Amino acid sequence: MAERVFCIDFGSGFTKVALRPDPGATARLINDRDVETADFCFPSVVVVDRAGPKPVLEFGKKAAGRTASNGIEVHANWKKRLFLNPGPDDPTANPLEAFLRSDDLAALATQHGVTATQLGHLRAVVASAREMLAGVGIQPAGRHAQQQQFAASLAAHFFAWLRKEVMKECERLPHAGLRYDGIPARLTVPAFAHGADVTTHPGCRLLTAAAEKAGWPLHPTRPVVSEPYANAVGVLTKGVNLLKKDKYDLGGSFGKGPLVTALKDPDHYAPYRAVVIDVGAFTTDFAVLTMRPDGPGESDPDRAFAVREHSVALGMSDLDERVFRVLPAEKAAWLRARSADEVDGFRESVYTEGKPVRSAALGPIGAGAELEAIRGVVADFGAGLAAEVRQFLSSLGPGGSAELVLTGGGMFVPALREAVLSAAAADGREFAKVHGPGLKKQTGKPVDKLDPRFTRGGSALGGAGLYFEPEYA
Ligand SMILES: Nc1ncnc2c1ncn2[C@@H]1O[C@H](COP(=O)(O)OP(=O)(O)OP(=O)(O)O)[C@@H](O)[C@H]1O
Ligand SMILES: [Mg+2]
Repeated sequence: MAERVFCIDFGSGFTKVALRPDPGATARLINDRDVETADFCFPSVVVVDRAGPKPVLEFGKKAAGRTASNGIEVHANWKKRLFLNPGPDDPTANPLEAFLRSDDLAALATQHGVTATQLGHLRAVVASAREMLAGVGIQPAGRHAQQQQFAASLAAHFFAWLRKEVMKECERLPHAGLRYDGIPARLTVPAFAHGADVTTHPGCRLLTAAAEKAGWPLHPTRPVVSEPYANAVGVLTKGVNLLKKDKYDLGGSFGKGPLVTALKDPDHYAPYRAVVIDVGAFTTDFAVLTMRPDGPGESDPDRAFAVREHSVALGMSDLDERVFRVLPAEKAAWLRARSADEVDGFRESVYTEGKPVRSAALGPIGAGAELEAIRGVVADFGAGLAAEVRQFLSSLGPGGSAELVLTGGGMFVPALREAVLSAAAADGREFAKVHGPGLKKQTGKPVDKLDPRFTRGGSALGGAGLYFEPEYA
């Protein structure tokens, strides 16, 4: 049990942190000063400057403005490397091993008077060494494993920086005497494999280890919760946590959010559910919370809701890669060399507003025929998202009433939002109300524009919820 908790939603593009400063307090996002610019989003970018005698690291906003150059590495969207499945080692992925097998080495050997027999022996010695190591359980690291290890070390540095930033921000909060550095933290992670024990995924273990190494005390009983589940709780409660006689007031907490109609009249609306879809930079996350008949009277979330969740590795960074491939090579190379800030600007300008960005040397990027080609790629990507939506929702039973909540940076792109909306409403499904960014009123269906705190910060706010403290049930 934790009376107070931080929740870190480590996002591929942006990390969000929320704090619940007391059992029954509303969770708040750290650094939430200007909601329109979503200040609470810390760019998950790390710069390693190797130009001097010692490497110098930079993080967050500062790092998001940097471009790579000689000796300066910019690491953005490295979350996916943590969650790689390295699988059995592929020797060809290791550049030295690949070289050992290559014709280039054979040619070099001839040049230096090494005979084919000697080269054959060398290759045989290396192969036996590999087998010997495998026999005692040592796998010489392949490319994926190396990338994963590197990402884990970036994570430890990033979390250490994040902790300093968060502690600094907390000192400005109005809770006199609270020892913020002793408050435990919970992390959110993708729900791969439909959320079947998210804690066993190697990426999750690397992430929690990195956070501990960085000095975050982890929550004693539930250090990890899935992103879709936390997001659903965050947007449905709006971060509110209420207590009634020292027990979690589930009805009251959810009564502030979109489920309010059903809570007032459960008989009429049952089975009542909320479908939450989040399109992020690395994953698209799905959650459905279906209220059980006695749900509103319960204080135990496990008895009030049936939950299904799922994450797929499909996000805005994949869309970028596909878009770069249809652009002229020099423009794609220019875009790949941009800072994280500029890539964000490119997404908003081109995908959302349909306006090109400009390069001094190459002119407009994303105008005319290029814009048409990009629109085609965005439409294909939207079709891929739509297929995932339909598959996830296909097992929902008929009847009842449902709210649809759209979150994540990707849902700001009208073409993607429309694709997800129509897929959600396909196969005869009906939604009483749709919540999300940039929504326009559609025929007869009420819409609710979600505040950026909930479109981007839902997982952090929900993950900090009293909902995840079973001792209060
Ligand atoms: N108005 C917009 N138009 C286009 N793209 C946008 C807009 N606003 C934000 N984005 C993009 O959406 C991306 C995803 O944002 P979000 O914060 O949801 O991702 P994340 O949480 O970091 O990723 P994940 O949850 O997959 O790890 C951002 O990297 C940003 O570039
Ligand atoms: Mg996210």
